[in-house]
Amino acid sequence: MNQDHPKTLEAIETASIDELRALQLERLRWSLNHAYNKVSFYRRAFTDAGVHPDDLTSLDDLHRFPLTTKQDLRDNYPFGMFAVPREKVVRIHASSGTTGKPTVVGYTKGDIDTWAQVMARSIYAAGGRPGDLCHVSYGYGLFTGGLGAHYGAERLGCTVIPMSGGQTEKQVQLITDFKPRIIMVTPSYCLNIADEVERQGLVAADCSLEIGIFGAEPWTNQMRAELEARLGIDAVDIYGLSEIIGPGVAAECVETKDGPTIWEDHFYPEIIDPVSGEPLPDGEHGELVFTSLTKEAFPVIRYRTRDLSRLLPGSARTMRRFDKITGRSDDMVIIRGVNVFPSQIEELILKTSGLAPHYQIEVARKDNLSSLTINAELAPATPANRIEALERELAHSVKAYIGIASRVVVHVPGSVPRSQGKAQRVVTSEPA
Ligand code: DLL
Repeated sequence: MNQDHPKTLEAIETASIDELRALQLERLRWSLNHAYNKVSFYRRAFTDAGVHPDDLTSLDDLHRFPLTTKQDLRDNYPFGMFAVPREKVVRIHASSGTTGKPTVVGYTKGDIDTWAQVMARSIYAAGGRPGDLCHVSYGYGLFTGGLGAHYGAERLGCTVIPMSGGQTEKQVQLITDFKPRIIMVTPSYCLNIADEVERQGLVAADCSLEIGIFGAEPWTNQMRAELEARLGIDAVDIYGLSEIIGPGVAAECVETKDGPTIWEDHFYPEIIDPVSGEPLPDGEHGELVFTSLTKEAFPVIRYRTRDLSRLLPGSARTMRRFDKITGRSDDMVIIRGVNVFPSQIEELILKTSGLAPHYQIEVARKDNLSSLTINAELAPATPANRIEALERELAHSVKAYIGIASRVVVHVPGSVPRSQGKAQRVVTSEPA
């Protein structure tokens, strides 16, 4: 692997589709064998499904192999899915499950190297270059955001500011004093930082930042426009999940901003029907599924992400892209039979002039019926006497575009809970 700071694209990023598919087939064979030989869970799952790694003669044969779910990882807590002796695992991360045990993942030295490389590639694709100052506000710790961004930025040859999440005033102080060109942070926390810049009497668009690399949560193109205008930056999307490696599974290229390019030489994507589990052709909407092609400590075969999107052909690179994630199947709320994602509401809020980009959705269930309250917030410059009109306007567009009745409450500036990392967009409440 190239340990030098990349000064240009890696050869595989512009390789022909045939070259890429040949590499994927070779790596997929290795990964299936590795999982089968080293992880008893996979050996059992393949055997139960009547398949063996030798049955894979083309990439399409992957469909014959069983899907893996988060529950499978939980059942093997903590280290049951590791494919190498624990002593070879140099790092552990874990995703914060809301209930019960976290999902634990492990990395060999080689995996950390792969991760740093795909993250360096992602930052480069976003427009970052060796020598840039890179402010990392993703949380450091068991969450993969901070350390993933950190190692990638170092690999690219950036000067890293490992700020982590929280301490918003300090974030602003360091951005003002150190003048980073790049910020890596969740889009919701970046808004919070921009608010703090303005609270301190500064103009956010005048700050040194030129590139925002945003991910870890769904965000819309309307939010992209807001962040770009507000901070005077290029805002690009970065995607990943701890089970697959962390951030850097896919990343947007700044020249196109048309959905994350999947680093397909390491992560093989599929889209399946979320209900039947059947594979769907490229272009159709469904659930993203990934198979790791090179991971040593924690190979994952056909992992169901629960993230909803569709596969698109390559644009800035040969590798395929996916559409900005609409949401997770777990985040979908069903209001009187209509499926609603927070991102649909985000789009409408950001199109309503006079509202701030902060929001939270409250779902109340009574007698098997759900009702929706949208907690929005007045933009600081909007007079308070517009609240009622804005409530009516947003409720009207939610009805017109999504097809559901909702109660909209527009709160005074600063009332909606602010994110320090991943925003909690949906809360459930019990009606009185
Ligand atoms: O969120 C890894 C990450 C860190 C990605 C920093 C990007 C930047 P987990 O905590 O395991 O890992 O959560 C993974 O977050 O399945 C998606 O539902 C969501 N997610 C991550 N990136 C995006 C994105 C990190 N760009 C889960 N757009 C994933 C939409 C995203 N959702």
